[in-house]
Amino acid sequence: MKKVLIALLCALALGAIPTRAQFGPRTVPEPTDGLKDAYKDYFKIGVAVNIRNVTEPEQIQVVLREFNSITAENAMKPQPTEPRKGEFNWEDADKIANFCRQHGIKMRGHTLMWHSQIGTWMYQDENGKLLPKEEFYANMKHHIQAIVNRYKDVVYCWDVVNEAVADSPVYPGAPELRNSPMYQIAGEEFIYKAFEYAHEADPTALLFYNDYNDSEPAKSQRIYNLVKRMKDAGVPVDGIGMQGHYNIYGPSMDDVDKAIALYSTVVKHIHITELDIRVNEDMGGGLRFNQGASQVADWERTLQQDQYVNLFKVLRKHKDVVDCVTFWNVSDKDSWLGVRNSPLLIDENYKVKQAYNAVKAFDPKQDNAVVIEDFRPSSKNQPGQEYPMVNSQGYARFKVNAPKANSVIVSLGLGGSGGTVLHKAEDGSWMGTTAGPMDEGFHYYHLTIDGGVFNDPGTENYYGSSRWESGIEIPAHDEAFYAERDIPHGNVQQILFWSKSTNQLRKAFVYTPAGYEKTKKKYPVLYLQHGWGENEFAWHVQGHANLIMDNLIADGKIDPFIIVMTYGMTNEGFRPGAPRAGGARGMMDNGFETVLCDELIPYVDSHFRTIAKKDSRAMAGLSMGGMETHTITLARPEVFGWYGLLSGGTYNPKELADAGLDPKQVKGIFVSCGSKEGPDQIRSAAQALQEAGYNAKGYVSEGTAHEFLTWRRSLYEMAPMLFKK
Ligand code: XIL
Repeated sequence: MKKVLIALLCALALGAIPTRAQFGPRTVPEPTDGLKDAYKDYFKIGVAVNIRNVTEPEQIQVVLREFNSITAENAMKPQPTEPRKGEFNWEDADKIANFCRQHGIKMRGHTLMWHSQIGTWMYQDENGKLLPKEEFYANMKHHIQAIVNRYKDVVYCWDVVNEAVADSPVYPGAPELRNSPMYQIAGEEFIYKAFEYAHEADPTALLFYNDYNDSEPAKSQRIYNLVKRMKDAGVPVDGIGMQGHYNIYGPSMDDVDKAIALYSTVVKHIHITELDIRVNEDMGGGLRFNQGASQVADWERTLQQDQYVNLFKVLRKHKDVVDCVTFWNVSDKDSWLGVRNSPLLIDENYKVKQAYNAVKAFDPKQDNAVVIEDFRPSSKNQPGQEYPMVNSQGYARFKVNAPKANSVIVSLGLGGSGGTVLHKAEDGSWMGTTAGPMDEGFHYYHLTIDGGVFNDPGTENYYGSSRWESGIEIPAHDEAFYAERDIPHGNVQQILFWSKSTNQLRKAFVYTPAGYEKTKKKYPVLYLQHGWGENEFAWHVQGHANLIMDNLIADGKIDPFIIVMTYGMTNEGFRPGAPRAGGARGMMDNGFETVLCDELIPYVDSHFRTIAKKDSRAMAGLSMGGMETHTITLARPEVFGWYGLLSGGTYNPKELADAGLDPKQVKGIFVSCGSKEGPDQIRSAAQALQEAGYNAKGYVSEGTAHEFLTWRRSLYEMAPMLFKK
């Protein structure tokens, strides 16, 4: 809750900051077109429908928007169409077929022969005795040809036989096929016959063998073997249907890739026929999520999205052979797995999920992107730690040892993906690479292992998001301005000052420039604040403020000044002994103004050689620190002469005038943000201030967001402006 409030506050101050994934699920806008449109150059996108889906207007609208192939979920199966011998019931099948005829959508027929949802009359007598083969074949032929003939104008392909291959493990010598009544009567031949009967009724229909656990290596080999034998025997089989009932932990997309590659050596058509990705590993329809009140956690959604995104990437790769991908049901509400399993891309209210957008908004260029294998340890790693690594393109690669874990997610990812999901590598560790290059600069992150949050033991820790997080550095092309060089360096020292107002010993870090100790010179002071969730370490540790200053001074670009960095919160509960939890309101009250102006500044002025005057005193801050700067500089017009807001909002001439601050009283104003943070506001604010006669500078950091490279660069741009007469 707190995070959301803070995010809102930041957004208010900055306009449209891109919301980070860590601030919770975003609302996904209603699409104007569908998956079928996004995938028009790849394959058809199909769906299994029930009667409600094709009769209720809201559902019809979703079906027509998203899909261009339709399967009847149950209505064309053996038992529903012919519950008793010779007694056909076409009602539901006709309704769905007519819907498709009316809208010009071709159907996948599902399914002609299956051991489940079939009238027992097909293969046994009233006493439960298996029928003679000829009688079974006659029943089968009559059934198959009746239904294929009836719908041949609208059904373009059939799942002729469903689920006839045995599940793993199959012991040596045991049959590779399921020991169904049909198999007991006729052996493998019944499968061949089913295809022949269907082909006879509609020689133009594409005929599929369809099964589940379609990517499990041993079973996919058996499926391949069966179809290969059929081909060799001249059976009219055109394709393999991979049901695609997957889950968030498996199969591995590597196995899916391999299975498709294997199948494509024996058939020209592969369809994913029943796609859903459930949130648990159970098989079948009776699932944990049907029974309990479990909620799908954010990290489970991340795993699900990752499975979907990677699956579609594999399918796009095989677009030459994959020509239809059918979701098993329209929405979670319709799913045979139960709504709590949340297995589809459309939720129970027929609204699309974030994963839907991730599947839809693929970048064809990224599909073929070549990741250069020049990964090197990140500069933020602990001594001797190889991972995380970064390559020259800005990809990050992670490796975590957690042998008993079921899932490992890195919170860093791209475009609201919620992170990078790691996968088990051959050596048993978890590994993964970001889906694309990251923004240059420093990023905080953490790991989520089976739902628990941890730091990456590979990196040093950085206080952000109100906790010590892991951090990674993507080398920036302009990193020279904070590089470590053989030049005179200043010092960063910790000071402790007693704060009466908060009844606490408080801490600050003070940067004194090189040479401070050797002269009697007095220096101007910049009070520089961190952002929300950070602390007094942020600016010199992840911000490299001291190195930026040392370099600027060594290069003669600025006159030296002191920087003071202190903790900018006074009444929230993050620290032991803090008075009380303040929440978002507390963060903005005047407690910090008192600490800063009435306690810290007098302490600094009495313990360091400062020029203790308004015109030689600046306040600046990033994000929340910018908001504090804004509030405090206006409330205490006599204290500071220079103001800086770094991704922390803007000033307007009216509020300055209202605070009695005309262009003579404010020596200079600096406003900045990253180009990915809605930079227009910064540009227009700077211009408005300049037009009103203020000494103002606006700066936009190219290619960065609400992160530290924006603020490092901002300090570098702001420093030369400060304390100029
Ligand atoms: C399921 C339907 O979705 C359910 O409504 C029905 O109760 C059972 O069958 N593999 C298949 C599909 O080939 O036909 C199944 O459909 C799901 C598993």
